[in-house]
Amino acid sequence: MAELRGARVALLGGRGMVGRALVESLARHGAEVHVYSRPEVDLARPSTLARIFERARPDWVVNGAAYTAVDRAEEEEALATRVNGEAVGLLARACAERGAKLVHYSTDYVFDGSARAPIPVDAAIAPINAYGRSKAAGEIAVREALPGAHLLIRTSWVYAPWGTNFVRTIAELAATRDVLRVVDDQRGRPTSAEELAERTCALMGRDARGTLHVTDEGECTWYELASAVVELTGSRCRVEPCTTDEFPRPARRPAYGVLDLSKTHALVGHGRPWREAVARVLEKMVEAPRVELGSENAPDSLLRA
Ligand SMILES: NC(=O)c1ccc[n+]([C@@H]2O[C@H](COP(=O)([O-])OP(=O)(O)OC[C@H]3O[C@@H](n4cnc5c(N)ncnc54)[C@H](OP(=O)(O)O)[C@@H]3O)[C@@H](O)[C@H]2O)c1
Repeated sequence: MAELRGARVALLGGRGMVGRALVESLARHGAEVHVYSRPEVDLARPSTLARIFERARPDWVVNGAAYTAVDRAEEEEALATRVNGEAVGLLARACAERGAKLVHYSTDYVFDGSARAPIPVDAAIAPINAYGRSKAAGEIAVREALPGAHLLIRTSWVYAPWGTNFVRTIAELAATRDVLRVVDDQRGRPTSAEELAERTCALMGRDARGTLHVTDEGECTWYELASAVVELTGSRCRVEPCTTDEFPRPARRPAYGVLDLSKTHALVGHGRPWREAVARVLEKMVEAPRVELGSENAPDSLLRA
């Protein structure tokens, strides 16, 4: 296990899907974790950012907070950009002034989905929706403000035993429905929030810098992911493929978001295959209470029960 023993870490968004996993992983790796949530630190209110540095004097700031409501962002692009772009730039500048390193998360939604092979870390970004543009603004701001001291982790299709997420919703619906129709024309890599948090710690422990991709191993469509969840839960529910066009949503989704993992493999080896990671999460899911969040891959955009 990579060591972060004694490192002081300020974590934003500790109540989110990824944030909750980070709290556990960072502590397990020996870090002294200071969690900041709204309203104490609110990315929409930049004056609150200074609080991060008062109590913790952090070696690292880990930003698990973001505006993640993809469809709502079409109507609230200014707010999404303030939280995911401008505030992230201010946070990065504050880290630069205080000598802290920044870990920040981004998404496959910064790409337009036209790739046909895994997307390298340095591929040109070209977002096709407001949320993607806001996250792209955050990426640019981090690189500009903190060129040598950031770890920018792009991830995709995150699920966990907690929070609103696709895997959890399918598992719940499969228990009561006969048929689920799920989109089969978006391809990507699912990511267990707990695996993401562990690999984040491993990368921090190696003092990795720059832009990296972290997801589960393998790739699939949402239909294939749903089919695996149904099979793993032992449900008799039938899963049928359908197209994205059958679910008109305010925000366009990229059709292909498979992130290339080779740089991450070279640093910390391979992660867990997605089917295996999903199976582990399903086992834990039974005990976890449901918490509603406006997460990036909110299930209502991908399936009809
Ligand atoms: N979920 C995915 O599929 C996915 C895919 C790719 C990338 N990502 C990225 O991964 C990161 C974590 O996402 P997630 O899925 O864990 O999101 P999430 O479950 O929606 O959690 C987001 C967290 O951010 C906090 N937050 C929202 N607005 C804030 C503000 N103005 N000030 C301070 N905190 C604020 C929320 O606080 P409250 O608890 O107070 O609401 C929540 O704790 C984000 O950068 C996201 O863009 C996610």
